Amino acid sequence: PRKIIIDTDPGQDDAFAILLALASPEDVEVLGITAVAGNVPLHYTEKNTRIICELAKKPHVKVYAGCDGPLARKLVTAEHVHGKTGLDGPALPEPTMTLQAQHGVDFLIDTLRQEASGTVTLCPLGPLTNIATAFQRAPDIIARVQQIVLMGGAYFEVGNITPAAEFNIYVDPEAADIVFKSGAPLVVMPLDVTHKALTTRARVEAFRGLGTEVGRMAAEWADFFERFDMEKYGSEGAPLHDPTVIAYLINPGLFAGRHINVEIEVQSDLTRGMTVADWWRVTDRPANALFIKDIDADGFFDLLTERLARL
Ligand code: BDR
Ligand code: CA
Repeated sequence: PRKIIIDTDPGQDDAFAILLALASPEDVEVLGITAVAGNVPLHYTEKNTRIICELAKKPHVKVYAGCDGPLARKLVTAEHVHGKTGLDGPALPEPTMTLQAQHGVDFLIDTLRQEASGTVTLCPLGPLTNIATAFQRAPDIIARVQQIVLMGGAYFEVGNITPAAEFNIYVDPEAADIVFKSGAPLVVMPLDVTHKALTTRARVEAFRGLGTEVGRMAAEWADFFERFDMEKYGSEGAPLHDPTVIAYLINPGLFAGRHINVEIEVQSDLTRGMTVADWWRVTDRPANALFIKDIDADGFFDLLTERLARL
Protein backbone atom coordinates (compact mmCIF):
# COMPACT_ATOMS: atom_id res chain seq x y z
CA PRO A 1 0.00 0.00 0.00
CA ARG A 2 1.00 3.59 -0.60
CA LYS A 3 1.62 5.69 2.48
CA ILE A 4 -0.63 8.75 2.49
CA ILE A 5 -1.46 11.76 4.62
CA ILE A 6 -4.96 13.15 4.08
CA ASP A 7 -5.31 16.91 4.56
CA THR A 8 -8.98 17.77 4.86
CA ASP A 9 -11.83 20.14 5.78
CA PRO A 10 -14.86 17.83 6.23
CA GLY A 11 -17.27 18.45 4.44
CA GLN A 12 -19.54 15.56 3.49
CA ASP A 13 -17.53 14.79 0.36
CA ASP A 14 -14.32 14.81 2.41
CA ALA A 15 -16.04 12.23 4.63
CA PHE A 16 -16.52 9.92 1.63
CA ALA A 17 -12.83 10.30 0.79
CA ILE A 18 -11.68 9.48 4.32
CA LEU A 19 -14.02 6.48 4.53
CA LEU A 20 -12.81 5.21 1.15
CA ALA A 21 -9.19 5.44 2.29
CA LEU A 22 -9.83 3.78 5.65
CA ALA A 23 -11.72 0.98 3.89
CA SER A 24 -8.81 0.29 1.52
CA PRO A 25 -5.79 -0.84 3.57
CA GLU A 26 -4.42 -2.96 0.71
CA ASP A 27 -4.09 0.20 -1.41
CA VAL A 28 -3.37 3.02 1.03
CA GLU A 29 -1.88 3.23 4.49
CA VAL A 30 -3.17 6.36 6.23
CA LEU A 31 -0.22 7.69 8.27
CA GLY A 32 -2.35 10.47 9.71
CA ILE A 33 -5.02 13.01 8.87
CA THR A 34 -4.47 16.75 9.19
CA ALA A 35 -7.49 19.04 9.42
CA VAL A 36 -7.55 22.54 7.97
CA ALA A 37 -10.03 25.41 8.00
CA GLY A 38 -12.13 25.50 4.82
CA ASN A 39 -15.73 24.40 4.41
CA VAL A 40 -16.20 25.29 8.08
CA PRO A 41 -13.81 26.58 10.78
CA LEU A 42 -11.02 24.35 12.12
CA HIS A 43 -12.76 23.37 15.37
CA TYR A 44 -15.44 21.69 13.28
CA THR A 45 -13.15 20.15 10.65
CA GLU A 46 -10.88 18.46 13.21
CA LYS A 47 -13.87 17.21 15.20
CA ASN A 48 -15.60 16.00 12.04
CA THR A 49 -12.46 14.10 11.05
CA ARG A 50 -12.56 12.24 14.37
CA ILE A 51 -16.29 11.49 13.95
CA ILE A 52 -15.57 9.99 10.53
CA CYS A 53 -12.70 7.82 11.82
CA GLU A 54 -14.94 6.49 14.56
CA LEU A 55 -17.73 5.83 12.09
CA ALA A 56 -15.20 3.73 10.14
CA LYS A 57 -14.31 1.95 13.42
CA LYS A 58 -10.71 3.19 13.13
CA PRO A 59 -10.30 5.25 16.31
CA HIS A 60 -6.53 4.62 16.29
CA VAL A 61 -6.01 6.87 13.26
CA LYS A 62 -3.96 9.91 14.19
CA VAL A 63 -5.86 13.16 13.66
CA TYR A 64 -4.13 16.54 13.90
CA ALA A 65 -5.44 20.10 13.80
CA GLY A 66 -3.54 22.32 11.38
CA CYS A 67 -3.98 25.93 10.30
CA ASP A 68 -7.11 27.84 11.29
CA GLY A 69 -7.08 30.22 8.34
CA PRO A 70 -5.42 31.07 5.02
CA LEU A 71 -1.86 32.40 4.71
CA ALA A 72 -2.81 35.94 3.78
CA ARG A 73 -6.59 36.28 3.66
CA LYS A 74 -9.69 36.09 5.77
CA LEU A 75 -11.25 32.61 5.86
CA VAL A 76 -14.17 32.07 3.47
CA THR A 77 -16.37 29.11 4.47
CA ALA A 78 -19.14 27.15 2.72
CA GLU A 79 -21.93 26.56 5.25
CA HIS A 80 -24.39 27.26 2.43
CA VAL A 81 -23.34 23.91 0.95
CA HIS A 82 -22.27 21.78 3.91
CA GLY A 83 -24.40 23.19 6.77
CA LYS A 84 -23.28 24.75 10.04
CA THR A 85 -21.15 21.81 11.22
CA GLY A 86 -19.80 20.91 7.77
CA LEU A 87 -21.30 17.42 8.15
CA ASP A 88 -24.96 18.35 8.39
CA GLY A 89 -27.49 15.68 7.43
CA PRO A 90 -27.61 12.68 9.75
CA ALA A 91 -27.47 13.04 13.54
CA LEU A 92 -23.83 12.69 14.57
CA PRO A 93 -22.37 11.30 17.79
CA GLU A 94 -19.79 13.23 19.80
CA PRO A 95 -16.37 11.77 19.05
CA THR A 96 -14.56 10.03 21.89
CA MET A 97 -11.15 9.59 20.25
CA THR A 98 -8.73 12.37 21.08
CA LEU A 99 -7.05 14.89 18.88
CA GLN A 100 -3.23 14.56 18.69
CA ALA A 101 -1.41 17.28 20.59
CA GLN A 102 1.04 18.01 17.78
CA HIS A 103 0.18 20.71 15.20
CA GLY A 104 -0.78 19.29 11.80
CA VAL A 105 1.99 21.20 10.03
CA ASP A 106 4.63 19.75 12.40
CA PHE A 107 3.23 16.28 11.77
CA LEU A 108 3.56 16.81 8.01
CA ILE A 109 7.15 17.99 8.36
CA ASP A 110 8.23 15.28 10.80
CA THR A 111 6.59 12.48 8.83
CA LEU A 112 8.12 13.52 5.52
CA ARG A 113 11.53 13.67 7.20
CA GLN A 114 11.15 10.35 9.02
CA GLU A 115 9.75 8.18 6.24
CA ALA A 116 12.01 7.16 3.35
CA SER A 117 12.24 9.86 0.72
CA GLY A 118 9.72 9.43 -2.10
CA THR A 119 7.38 7.13 -0.18
CA VAL A 120 4.73 9.52 1.19
CA THR A 121 1.84 10.87 -0.90
CA LEU A 122 -0.14 13.92 0.23
CA CYS A 123 -3.89 14.01 -0.39
CA PRO A 124 -5.21 17.56 0.09
CA LEU A 125 -9.00 17.83 0.02
CA GLY A 126 -9.37 21.43 1.21
CA PRO A 127 -7.52 24.76 1.01
CA LEU A 128 -3.76 24.18 0.72
CA THR A 129 -2.79 26.16 3.84
CA ASN A 130 -1.27 23.29 5.83
CA ILE A 131 0.76 21.95 2.92
CA ALA A 132 2.07 25.38 1.89
CA THR A 133 2.97 26.25 5.48
CA ALA A 134 4.92 23.01 5.83
CA PHE A 135 6.73 23.66 2.52
CA GLN A 136 7.60 27.22 3.55
CA ARG A 137 8.83 26.21 6.96
CA ALA A 138 10.76 23.11 5.83
CA PRO A 139 11.64 23.35 2.12
CA ASP A 140 13.75 20.18 2.46
CA ILE A 141 10.58 18.07 2.64
CA ILE A 142 9.38 19.06 -0.84
CA ALA A 143 11.82 16.76 -2.64
CA ARG A 144 10.81 13.93 -0.31
CA VAL A 145 7.12 13.96 -1.36
CA GLN A 146 6.21 11.05 -3.63
CA GLN A 147 3.20 12.79 -5.13
CA ILE A 148 0.48 15.28 -4.23
CA VAL A 149 -2.96 14.18 -5.42
CA LEU A 150 -5.38 17.00 -4.66
CA MET A 151 -8.95 18.10 -5.27
CA GLY A 152 -9.05 21.68 -6.48
CA GLY A 153 -9.28 24.01 -9.43
CA ALA A 154 -11.26 24.03 -12.64
CA TYR A 155 -10.68 24.86 -16.25
CA PHE A 156 -13.54 23.96 -18.59
CA GLU A 157 -16.08 24.00 -15.75
CA VAL A 158 -14.62 27.24 -14.37
CA GLY A 159 -15.77 28.26 -10.89
CA ASN A 160 -18.11 27.15 -8.13
CA ILE A 161 -17.43 29.88 -5.54
CA THR A 162 -16.77 32.72 -8.00
CA PRO A 163 -17.26 32.63 -11.78
CA ALA A 164 -13.53 32.01 -12.12
CA ALA A 165 -12.47 29.96 -9.12
CA GLU A 166 -13.03 26.63 -7.41
CA PHE A 167 -13.53 26.80 -3.61
CA ASN A 168 -10.35 25.07 -2.31
CA ILE A 169 -8.04 27.20 -4.44
CA TYR A 170 -10.06 30.40 -3.94
CA VAL A 171 -9.93 30.21 -0.15
CA ASP A 172 -6.13 30.24 -0.04
CA PRO A 173 -4.70 31.16 -3.45
CA GLU A 174 -1.29 32.08 -2.02
CA ALA A 175 -1.01 28.59 -0.53
CA ALA A 176 -2.09 27.02 -3.80
CA ASP A 177 0.50 29.10 -5.65
CA ILE A 178 3.25 27.76 -3.36
CA VAL A 179 2.13 24.16 -3.88
CA PHE A 180 1.73 24.44 -7.66
CA LYS A 181 5.17 26.05 -7.96
CA SER A 182 6.84 23.67 -5.50
CA GLY A 183 8.06 21.15 -8.06
CA ALA A 184 6.45 18.24 -6.19
CA PRO A 185 4.70 15.85 -8.63
CA LEU A 186 1.06 16.96 -8.76
CA VAL A 187 -2.14 15.23 -9.81
CA VAL A 188 -5.13 17.60 -9.86
CA MET A 189 -8.81 16.62 -9.64
CA PRO A 190 -10.59 19.78 -10.81
CA LEU A 191 -14.32 20.44 -11.17
CA ASP A 192 -13.89 19.26 -14.76
CA VAL A 193 -13.76 15.73 -13.43
CA THR A 194 -15.82 15.99 -10.24
CA HIS A 195 -18.78 17.48 -12.12
CA LYS A 196 -18.91 14.15 -13.96
CA ALA A 197 -19.12 12.20 -10.67
CA LEU A 198 -22.73 12.93 -9.72
CA THR A 199 -24.69 11.43 -6.83
CA THR A 200 -27.62 10.25 -8.92
CA ARG A 201 -30.60 8.68 -7.13
CA ALA A 202 -29.51 5.17 -8.07
CA ARG A 203 -26.02 5.74 -6.69
CA VAL A 204 -27.30 7.18 -3.41
CA GLU A 205 -29.77 4.31 -3.05
CA ALA A 206 -26.86 1.91 -3.56
CA PHE A 207 -25.18 3.46 -0.49
CA ARG A 208 -28.39 3.21 1.51
CA GLY A 209 -28.96 -0.32 0.25
CA LEU A 210 -25.75 -1.49 1.95
CA GLY A 211 -27.90 -1.67 5.07
CA THR A 212 -25.00 -0.57 7.30
CA GLU A 213 -24.55 2.51 9.46
CA VAL A 214 -21.88 3.79 7.07
CA GLY A 215 -24.19 3.24 4.09
CA ARG A 216 -27.02 5.10 5.80
CA MET A 217 -24.78 8.03 6.81
CA ALA A 218 -23.32 8.19 3.30
CA ALA A 219 -26.80 8.33 1.78
CA GLU A 220 -27.97 10.99 4.26
CA TRP A 221 -24.87 13.11 3.60
CA ALA A 222 -25.45 12.86 -0.13
CA ASP A 223 -29.13 13.76 0.34
CA PHE A 224 -28.10 16.81 2.34
CA PHE A 225 -25.43 18.38 0.16
CA GLU A 226 -27.08 17.66 -3.15
CA ARG A 227 -30.06 19.84 -2.20
CA PHE A 228 -27.96 22.92 -2.79
CA ASP A 229 -25.97 21.72 -5.79
CA MET A 230 -28.89 20.21 -7.72
CA GLU A 231 -30.71 23.52 -7.62
CA LYS A 232 -27.53 25.30 -8.68
CA TYR A 233 -26.52 22.98 -11.52
CA GLY A 234 -29.91 21.58 -12.50
CA SER A 235 -28.41 18.09 -12.55
CA GLU A 236 -29.62 14.81 -11.06
CA GLY A 237 -27.35 14.63 -8.04
CA ALA A 238 -24.37 16.68 -6.98
CA PRO A 239 -20.65 16.39 -7.67
CA LEU A 240 -18.91 14.10 -5.19
CA HIS A 241 -15.55 15.89 -5.33
CA ASP A 242 -13.05 14.66 -2.78
CA PRO A 243 -13.18 10.85 -2.99
CA THR A 244 -11.88 11.10 -6.57
CA VAL A 245 -8.46 11.72 -4.98
CA ILE A 246 -8.45 8.41 -3.11
CA ALA A 247 -10.06 6.55 -6.02
CA TYR A 248 -7.19 7.74 -8.21
CA LEU A 249 -4.68 6.13 -5.83
CA ILE A 250 -6.65 2.89 -5.83
CA ASN A 251 -7.37 2.72 -9.57
CA PRO A 252 -5.79 5.44 -11.74
CA GLY A 253 -7.26 3.67 -14.77
CA LEU A 254 -10.63 5.24 -13.89
CA PHE A 255 -9.22 8.67 -14.85
CA ALA A 256 -7.70 10.45 -17.83
CA GLY A 257 -5.97 13.81 -18.15
CA ARG A 258 -2.95 15.65 -19.49
CA HIS A 259 0.42 16.73 -18.17
CA ILE A 260 0.21 20.50 -18.48
CA ASN A 261 1.24 23.78 -16.89
CA VAL A 262 -1.17 25.09 -14.26
CA GLU A 263 -0.67 28.44 -12.53
CA ILE A 264 -2.72 30.18 -9.87
CA GLU A 265 -4.09 33.71 -10.18
CA VAL A 266 -3.30 35.51 -6.94
CA GLN A 267 -3.67 39.16 -7.87
CA SER A 268 -6.86 40.00 -9.72
CA ASP A 269 -9.92 40.54 -7.52
CA LEU A 270 -12.07 39.35 -10.40
CA THR A 271 -10.35 36.02 -11.06
CA ARG A 272 -8.50 35.33 -7.80
CA GLY A 273 -7.89 31.63 -7.28
CA MET A 274 -8.37 30.73 -10.92
CA THR A 275 -6.34 27.72 -12.03
CA VAL A 276 -4.92 28.93 -15.34
CA ALA A 277 -4.49 25.57 -17.05
CA ASP A 278 -2.59 25.43 -20.33
CA TRP A 279 -4.74 22.56 -21.64
CA TRP A 280 -3.91 23.25 -25.28
CA ARG A 281 -0.22 23.80 -24.52
CA VAL A 282 -0.21 27.26 -26.07
CA THR A 283 2.73 28.41 -23.91
CA ASP A 284 6.14 26.87 -23.41
CA ARG A 285 5.69 26.93 -19.65
CA PRO A 286 6.75 23.52 -18.35
CA ALA A 287 4.15 21.01 -17.23
CA ASN A 288 3.79 20.91 -13.44
CA ALA A 289 0.62 18.84 -13.06
CA LEU A 290 -1.33 15.92 -14.36
CA PHE A 291 -4.66 17.72 -14.82
CA ILE A 292 -7.48 15.18 -14.83
CA LYS A 293 -10.49 15.80 -17.04
CA ASP A 294 -12.33 12.50 -17.45
CA ILE A 295 -13.62 9.79 -15.16
CA ASP A 296 -15.36 6.45 -15.50
CA ALA A 297 -18.13 7.61 -13.16
CA ASP A 298 -19.88 4.23 -12.90
CA GLY A 299 -16.58 2.55 -12.13
CA PHE A 300 -15.85 5.21 -9.51
CA PHE A 301 -19.21 4.80 -7.73
CA ASP A 302 -18.97 0.99 -7.91
CA LEU A 303 -15.56 1.14 -6.25
CA LEU A 304 -16.82 3.56 -3.60
CA THR A 305 -19.89 1.46 -2.79
CA GLU A 306 -17.93 -1.81 -2.67
CA ARG A 307 -15.37 -0.33 -0.32
CA LEU A 308 -17.90 1.40 1.95
CA ALA A 309 -19.60 -1.98 2.29
CA ARG A 310 -16.53 -3.21 4.18
CA LEU A 311 -16.88 -0.69 7.01
C1 BDR B 1 -14.35 21.44 -2.80
O1 BDR B 1 -14.81 22.43 -1.90
C2 BDR B 1 -15.46 21.84 -0.81
O2 BDR B 1 -16.70 22.42 -0.63
C3 BDR B 1 -15.53 20.36 -1.08
O3 BDR B 1 -15.30 19.65 0.13
C4 BDR B 1 -14.45 20.12 -2.09
O4 BDR B 1 -13.21 19.83 -1.46
C5 BDR B 1 -15.14 21.53 -4.08
O5 BDR B 1 -14.99 22.78 -4.68
CA1 CA C 1 -13.04 19.35 0.92
